[in-house]
Amino acid sequence: MTNDVDKVLLSKEDLENITKKLGAEISRDFADKTPVFIGLLKGCNPFLSDLLKNVTIPCEVDYMKVSSYVGTESKGSITIINDITTNVKDRDVIIVDDIVDTGRTTSLIKHLFEQRDAKSVTLCCMLDKPEGRVVEVNVKYIGSTIPNEFVVGYGLDYNELYRNLPFIGVLKREIYN
Ligand code: IMP
Ligand code: MG
Repeated sequence: MTNDVDKVLLSKEDLENITKKLGAEISRDFADKTPVFIGLLKGCNPFLSDLLKNVTIPCEVDYMKVSSYVGTESKGSITIINDITTNVKDRDVIIVDDIVDTGRTTSLIKHLFEQRDAKSVTLCCMLDKPEGRVVEVNVKYIGSTIPNEFVVGYGLDYNELYRNLPFIGVLKREIYN
């Protein structure tokens, strides 16, 4: 499985440093609050678990499974496959996802939580691929910015495989060509 990866972009150590840094930043920025982390399945795992170990303030956690489609509008639309059970009205929500590429998923999710009357909606993604952006979206917490390549590992999949790799790497072309 490791042989299917061309180049390691982020090692296990890099990922540990990223979650440490983001956990500390979030703990500082939300020091007087009790935010609700909402992980987008399945890609948020294991990023969210490692992040949470570095969050030192009181917080809640919930999970949601969504899929986004591109319709006639470039913004697309989102389908909720599994919803959260937490009431987010007047709560500080932190959405956690694996990667922001076109920006569709994160911007639609942000909008959804604003409609549910969250007090604030903040986005946190492990990776950012700015070259893929179609919809403008402000992701406050980003672990690392990467080039426009297809990556797998640490939650990121190709056809549901490779999520269990402990690092993030570029998938070999021959695997998906
Ligand atoms: P967006 O809505 O285009 O920003 O897409 C975000 C979703 O696309 C992520 O949650 C991933 O599921 C998927 N995705 C985008 N780029 C990659 C990649 O390089 N590897 C694996 N999944 C990706
Ligand atoms: Mg995903």
